[in-house]
Amino acid sequence: MGDHSHGGPDQPGTVAKAQEGELDKIQDPGLPPHRARLTDTDPRAAKRAERHVAILFAISIIGTVLFFVGYFAVGHTESIAELRLQNTLLGLGTGFAMLGIGVGIVHWARTLMPDHEIAESRHAVRTEEDRKDAEAIVNTIIDESGIQRRPLIRNTLIGALALAPLPGVFILRDLDLTKESAGQIVDRLRHTMWDKGVRLTRDPSGTPIKASDVQIGSAFHVIPEGLMEAEDWLNQKAKAVVLLMRLNPEDLNISEGREDWHHNGIVAYSKICTHVGCPVALYEQHTHHLLCPCHQSTFDLTQECKVIFGPAAHALPQLPITVDDEGFLVAQSDFHEPVGPGYWERG
Ligand code: FES
Repeated sequence: MGDHSHGGPDQPGTVAKAQEGELDKIQDPGLPPHRARLTDTDPRAAKRAERHVAILFAISIIGTVLFFVGYFAVGHTESIAELRLQNTLLGLGTGFAMLGIGVGIVHWARTLMPDHEIAESRHAVRTEEDRKDAEAIVNTIIDESGIQRRPLIRNTLIGALALAPLPGVFILRDLDLTKESAGQIVDRLRHTMWDKGVRLTRDPSGTPIKASDVQIGSAFHVIPEGLMEAEDWLNQKAKAVVLLMRLNPEDLNISEGREDWHHNGIVAYSKICTHVGCPVALYEQHTHHLLCPCHQSTFDLTQECKVIFGPAAHALPQLPITVDDEGFLVAQSDFHEPVGPGYWERG
């Protein structure tokens, strides 16, 4: 064993070693004297603190109600403003529901629960006696918490605790696949608005794109023509957004069967990251890489958007394109594979 002390006795940070027997001479300092709080001595202050705790629990209840207003009453149209309101209500409601309970309990403990310290000596385990001791301790805790003497706190706490888990239950309920068969869900996610002859248009203006508008090195954010007229255009857009770029055709490594999926080096790929669905929005023109800003998955355009870095497991799906009689870029078909993350059944 080496010597673990550091430096000399006069150097800062040095800890002097206790001599043998010296440790026995250290006195037990005991507990510091208890300082009474205002709420211990003034019944009006205690009443005030009790009201504050109850208000915090009531805030939690209001938060849960806000969540349900957002969940049931708002956001059932495709209006962006309404969806924003719904997200705000869901977020604020959940936040207030949790925060109200948390801050309320801390405030209760700091102002009203007994704060004297107790030293409990340990002893050998005695099953029956220990069970009785534990029972007595629980009863003491209930008694000292004052929950029986303070009905205002008790009732608001029960209300807050009963309601707070419900948002989680309703959110999990949305994962219930029995409402819709797994096949229907896959089908809904599998198909997009792209089809034979659908023009590629700029996002968000919706103006069609001519092949001659796309220069080497340029990139376009693209949506299918007619998207904004669709009834559920937001859901459709979430699946159909595409990135369009033009490379020198010699830089493209094209696999068998995809030879005619590009037009003079103009290629179109799904913008939905195959990791967890963020929009892949960064195009590095010099390296021909597409980068997902969420977790840095990187896709190589020259290799049909194969993943070359990051957590994504699949290449970005390619949209086969061509031009129509007027020179506008159009899709040849829908994607040949599902877009987006691979955690649902892709088959
Ligand atoms: S969502 Fe794109 S890397 Fe995670």
